[in-house]
Amino acid sequence: MTEANLLLEQQKDAVLTLQLNRPEAHNALNTQLLINLAQRLRQADADHHIKAVVITGNLKSFAAGADIKEMAQQNAITLHQDARVRAWSDISAFSKPMLAAVNGFCLGGGCELAMCADYIIAGNNAKFGQPEIKLGIIPGAGGTQRLVRYVGQARAMQMVLTGNIINADQAESYGLVTQICEPQQTLIEAQAQAAKIAAHAPLAVRMAKDCVKRANDLQLSQGLTFERRSYCLVSASDDRNEGINAFLEKRKPNYTGN
Ligand code: HXC
Repeated sequence: MTEANLLLEQQKDAVLTLQLNRPEAHNALNTQLLINLAQRLRQADADHHIKAVVITGNLKSFAAGADIKEMAQQNAITLHQDARVRAWSDISAFSKPMLAAVNGFCLGGGCELAMCADYIIAGNNAKFGQPEIKLGIIPGAGGTQRLVRYVGQARAMQMVLTGNIINADQAESYGLVTQICEPQQTLIEAQAQAAKIAAHAPLAVRMAKDCVKRANDLQLSQGLTFERRSYCLVSASDDRNEGINAFLEKRKPNYTGN
């Protein structure tokens, strides 16, 4: 498999779909795949034609984690200096809306990748877990941090300490996924929601995402101040006037991104 084939892409209007493509290894995230993904997201962030991204795998696997065969060759020093660290950081810093469409196995680094998205839509065959503990290691790309924020400390603790895998229904009841679909519909539904988001005023969308993400990091008073300032900034945009005028004139808005 060539490097280019590791990540397939498809763009429809303003929505870019990125498909992890190592089916022979349950889409295990080897270094090259992770670097390709981070690189493409950096480009997408700078491309004003792209307004939302969907990341997905195939019907059997979103991703079964970091590549264990590759991991076997690494040690603490190579891991620390690894290009993967920068790749994970770039993936989580993607500033436009990113949805994960998850079918099948979504384990370890795969679950951590899905949690880098803004929300996860899952097929009814999806299986989520942080099984690193069974390998004598721990999650290293947000599994002990983002999972707590998604599902709460007790459930995250249970998943991380037991390595147990949860099914789509449990993931939905935990709040890890927003919605469950027939597997064939998962990507279609995520793309439809991404297209809906992409039709909104781009600046408002990015500010909204930024504000919601900061809710995890800031105290309420700081978060409210940040939200208020962002609100004022968005109110200075042309698209704010266009959105309000379109409502008053009973027509569809025509946003320019300004
Ligand atoms: C490398 C993997 C892999 C992985 C599967 N494969 N998962 N290769 N890394 N994470 C490979 C298998 O070695 C096998 O290759 C082929 O994919 C098919 O896998 P099988 O095990 O035969 O399939 P199946 O019986 O259907 O079981 C599927 C599975 C299982 C339940 C997903 O493969 C599994 O448990 N995988 C490991 C899951 C895991 O522990 N993930 C966490 C990784 S650690 P061959 O060549 O034998 O045919 C991690 C740390 C993140 O993610 C840290 C980030 C910084």
